[in-house]
Amino acid sequence: HSVALVGAPLSRGQKRRGVDHGPATLRAAGLVERLAGLGCQVHDFGDLNFTQVPNDELYNNLVLYPRSVGLATQMLADAVSRAVAAGHRCVTLGGDHSLALGSVSGHARQRPHLGVVWVDAHADINTPLTTQSGSLHGQPLSFLLRELQDKVPQLPGFSWLKPCLSASDIVYIGLRDVDPAEYYILKNFDIQYFSMRDIDHLGIQKVMERTFEQLMGRRQRPIHLSFDIDAFDPSLAPATGTPVLGGLTYREGMYITEEIHNTGMLSAVDMAEVNPLLGASQEAVKATARLAVDVIATCFGQTREGAHIAFDELP
Ligand code: ARG
Ligand code: MN
Ligand code: MN
Repeated sequence: HSVALVGAPLSRGQKRRGVDHGPATLRAAGLVERLAGLGCQVHDFGDLNFTQVPNDELYNNLVLYPRSVGLATQMLADAVSRAVAAGHRCVTLGGDHSLALGSVSGHARQRPHLGVVWVDAHADINTPLTTQSGSLHGQPLSFLLRELQDKVPQLPGFSWLKPCLSASDIVYIGLRDVDPAEYYILKNFDIQYFSMRDIDHLGIQKVMERTFEQLMGRRQRPIHLSFDIDAFDPSLAPATGTPVLGGLTYREGMYITEEIHNTGMLSAVDMAEVNPLLGASQEAVKATARLAVDVIATCFGQTREGAHIAFDELP
């Protein structure tokens, strides 16, 4: 099977420096070699060349860099759409999580019935009117959800974007820092989520069972995994912009991606918010990047129990 890599060095969706070096950091941690070692044919499309739009003023005195994020994610949507149309499974290397505006849109252009598994400490479903930070990385799902469109104003740079998801097409895993307006949206539109508390209560195995029941109970469909590295506990993933205590363990993270791989329906992956300027040390950055590479490798078949080889390959 073939895997496309698209680097999306997006940083204007949040306020901290360095997250645009995410794609280079993931590559330096050996991503291509790991995927090739699993037998994947890797097609590395390189990094998209995002330019900052000049005079990109605040929207509504609050929302940061709408034109730059709008243009970058439009480019990303085209790249992901092309990769999926060419028959690849597509991995988008972030970059901040506003990249999902582009990756999910581009993926849905080719696979309109996709379901989204959103692994994150945060819900990223503020609207430009409810955001407290003004950062677009806390908002991508509000633009993508059909049910929310009368609550989402038209931003400059966003005219290309059409909502492509329904509330029942999303499952969150790992939530533990949800803003009041986001909580209202989750409840009002009956969006399925498994918070860290739910994982404590049910165990990760039941969480995954229920995730697939929600997304694929009626019929199989392509899966888009959008993975924010801050879903992990900060002790494991310190090099990220908005760490929150009490996150996923390594084993819970690997179990999530193993089970997603086992569905056979994984079609696109985002790896967002790895920021090499935010580790306390080079070692902390490397550990975060290695963890992100483990997540991606597990999505494409790396197992903890070893892999089969054909009998005639035995030396
Ligand atoms: N909820 C906060 C906000 O709206 C934090 C979002 C963090 N998002 C992320 N992709 N790390 O700004
Ligand atoms: Mn997050
Ligand atoms: Mn996120």
